[in-house]
Amino acid sequence: MYETWEQLEEAIRDCKKCKLYQNRNNIVLGAGNKKGNIMIIGEGPGADEDREGNPFVGKAGKLMNQAFIGLGLKREEMYITNIVKCRPPGNRDPEPDEATCCMDYLRSQVILIKPKIILLLGRIALKNILGKEYGITDSRGSWVEKKGIWYMPTWHPAALLRDESKKIDFWRDMKQVRVKLEEMESS
Ligand code: URA
Ligand code: SF4
Repeated sequence: MYETWEQLEEAIRDCKKCKLYQNRNNIVLGAGNKKGNIMIIGEGPGADEDREGNPFVGKAGKLMNQAFIGLGLKREEMYITNIVKCRPPGNRDPEPDEATCCMDYLRSQVILIKPKIILLLGRIALKNILGKEYGITDSRGSWVEKKGIWYMPTWHPAALLRDESKKIDFWRDMKQVRVKLEEMESS
């Protein structure tokens, strides 16, 4: 576990803990407000993210940004990252050993940021964070509270690009996040 951002950044700089290092152009550690109340966890960098070194800058990210803007949630108020910090070849799912290798970085990020709410984007984020027993279809849209952090599982924005009908759910789940945040801020 890394106790400061400097330690974390230094440790990950040349990371070769799993095979994903072989094809990466950039490590995508995360971006956003390190003191934000909301943390967003996706799956892993895609081609655009690998090229730029920033999370959710491609098509799926743009769609997610539109939802945030529509709901008055600002991307600058959140910290966005992924389960794995290097791009899986051909955008395949990260394998369990890769997710396990990379988990120390994510755990440290959560400890350093201390978010109140964590949005879990898709099945990979859900299973790696809350456990294998969770399924995205049943879990999405319902809060799970663990050790003082409120988790909201929802569809991965890439799934919305494939299936328009999921946009309504996604919007609804995001709205719950906004409402919860407002409740927390006013109490
Ligand atoms: N999909 C993800 O899961 N993460 C990104 O950063 C981009 C696309
Ligand atoms: Fe290291 Fe994570 Fe990249 Fe694997 S995915 S090489 S563990 S930073």
